[in-house]
Amino acid sequence: MAKIQVMSDLLANKIAAGEVVERPASVVKELLENSLDAGATEILIELQQAGLEMIRVADNGSGIDSSDVPLAFERHATSKILDDKDLFRIQTLGFRGEALPSIAAVSRLQIKTRTSTEQAGTCLHVEAGRITDSTVSAAKQGTEISVQDLFFNTPARLKYLKSMQTELGHVVDFVEKMALARPEVAFRLYHNDRLLLQTPGDGVILHAAAAVYGRELVKQMASVAWENYDYRITGLAGFPELNRANRNHCTFFVNGRYIKSYLLFQAVVNAYHTLLPINRYPVCILHIQLDPSLVDVNVHPTKLEVRFSEEKDLSISVQQAIRSALEQHSLVPKAVAKQIASERQPQTQQTPLPQTSLPQTQPEQPAFGSKQRMRQPSLKFDYPARVNGGSSDPKAAREAAIHLYQTTHTDQQTAKNQIHGENQSTVEPSAPFSAEATAAAKHLPDGTDESVMEEAAEAKEAPAIRFRPIAQALGMYVIAESVEGLYIIDQHAAHEKVLYEKFRNRLREKQIHPLPLLVPLTLELSSSESEKLVSQMSILSELCIEVEQFGRGSFLIRSVPDIWDGLDTQRLTAELIDELLMEQVKDPRALIEDKIIMKACKSAIKANRWLSMQEMNALCEQLAKLENPYTCPHGRPIIIHMSTYDLEKQFKRVM
Ligand SMILES: Nc1ncnc2c1ncn2[C@@H]1O[C@H](COP(=O)(O)OP(=O)(O)OP(=O)(O)O)[C@@H](O)[C@H]1O
Ligand SMILES: [Mg+2]
Repeated sequence: MAKIQVMSDLLANKIAAGEVVERPASVVKELLENSLDAGATEILIELQQAGLEMIRVADNGSGIDSSDVPLAFERHATSKILDDKDLFRIQTLGFRGEALPSIAAVSRLQIKTRTSTEQAGTCLHVEAGRITDSTVSAAKQGTEISVQDLFFNTPARLKYLKSMQTELGHVVDFVEKMALARPEVAFRLYHNDRLLLQTPGDGVILHAAAAVYGRELVKQMASVAWENYDYRITGLAGFPELNRANRNHCTFFVNGRYIKSYLLFQAVVNAYHTLLPINRYPVCILHIQLDPSLVDVNVHPTKLEVRFSEEKDLSISVQQAIRSALEQHSLVPKAVAKQIASERQPQTQQTPLPQTSLPQTQPEQPAFGSKQRMRQPSLKFDYPARVNGGSSDPKAAREAAIHLYQTTHTDQQTAKNQIHGENQSTVEPSAPFSAEATAAAKHLPDGTDESVMEEAAEAKEAPAIRFRPIAQALGMYVIAESVEGLYIIDQHAAHEKVLYEKFRNRLREKQIHPLPLLVPLTLELSSSESEKLVSQMSILSELCIEVEQFGRGSFLIRSVPDIWDGLDTQRLTAELIDELLMEQVKDPRALIEDKIIMKACKSAIKANRWLSMQEMNALCEQLAKLENPYTCPHGRPIIIHMSTYDLEKQFKRVM
């Protein structure tokens, strides 16, 4: 007897709903996407009890023609694609014709809608997938959909939901992403009649980001605007000091669609290479526009993941976009600006009297960024604070955002001018610097660090920051001056960066050679470690680390790169192999190269090493010639700047 039957539409919709509607946030996502596809410029989202009791989304988009309204609740009914050619050039957020029937299958839904050409609107009630009522009704142009009692007929679903706070968090998170995706749309989000988010909808990403993350945070971000033949990349990229302990603060939109992408995240991390401390991640919002045929959005049921056809090109483009955005801005941390309470408690009252003698022991290195991190506004969302600070008046929100932009823009411009100088023509390149450095390179006084001097002699291009060392403090810092103020330079970090760049260039130009180890290093490895090492042996050998296997898990290291000359080569080799075996290696060559260079940098001058004036000159000159002299290879700051104006303000010479 035949057993197979085609299931009813109602049952099919209920099953499909399992994939599309996982939680209240999925309903908000689908309704918002529909509103955006309908060309809305204003969208109001209201929730009761995190959306479990009620979700209402109202837009001023195109509306749905009265004859189409029942069809919108049929599965696979869509106005967005017609044939399979469209499927590979999708320009809308929706295209499956699944969302409305799925939502309606697991809730009590009401839709009110009117197009611009209709006199009256349509109102339809759907309960558990069945149309229960349809009337002609007065309605504004656009669409308003209310979803009540979500999952009332699939109670098992309710069990999987998390706490109300968590569910609300998912909704807010998604609406924030949409607000960042479409700065030209004004969003308002209410929960239990409390305004949680409002964006001005004026098309400026900075204003939308200010509404989402707060003014202080976006002040620490650079604008990204980059394009080539295939891609247009815009958005905001955090300055390196704005960094986070987890990876969730890089947000990507592709042709206006919010997506998650490890490829793009990795590209961003590469762009910040050496700019961030270890285990810290950047903050960015990137919009990528590309030909729809270069991206496949139909690879994931929730459309959150996409596939790019030219992954490598895209990755390089993203890196370039971010790098060029960051290069527009000075990355030198400002000393005085960082004293939060300086206005109320002048520095002079807090600073202890200078010691008459310098400490004999090595002073403890300040933990990187402890102050900076304290100052950084948290990305943790503080709803009440934002709501109280916000205004329910869209005009006021827009004005506040415009004010923010002006302040931000001016701040950034001022900072830029202070370092690179609009008035650079008045700051002549300081001839004595290079003259002194070159002279010093020829006549090394006793005890002068030759490596520092050699690097100065190798320097070719004109310095970007022009400063003159005047003294060394605490055995650790070079104090330098220019007409733009004082600079405090961490001598170890500075020299480490100079060496890093020098060795990186040598490696790139294949200017390194094997240095035989007098006593080869012996390694005993487990079988999985052996396998891993064997797979990297050819790269290691190209990079002058000769590894020889003699027996199953026994290896001899016979040579190391000559840039390690003078260092504890045995220890460095053992460390490098250990790290190599520990890491998940994606790009082994890049990883090994980086580790070789980082280890070579151990020869950098240490703290508590007193420098002659020539050495300081040489170091500053070298530093000034680097593309990025602001952060060391570990991402820590190298230079702190105290502008002339800041000093005058501190001493109350100007008010
Ligand atoms: N807010 C709205 N304004 C105008 N038309 C809408 C709106 N919401 C839905 N529609 C219409 O209803 C149709 C069905 O919507 P539904 O969300 O189910 O499918 P879709 O958006 O086409 O695809 P997907 O399932 O991928 O979201 C849409 O194609 C659209 O024509
Ligand atoms: Mg849709």
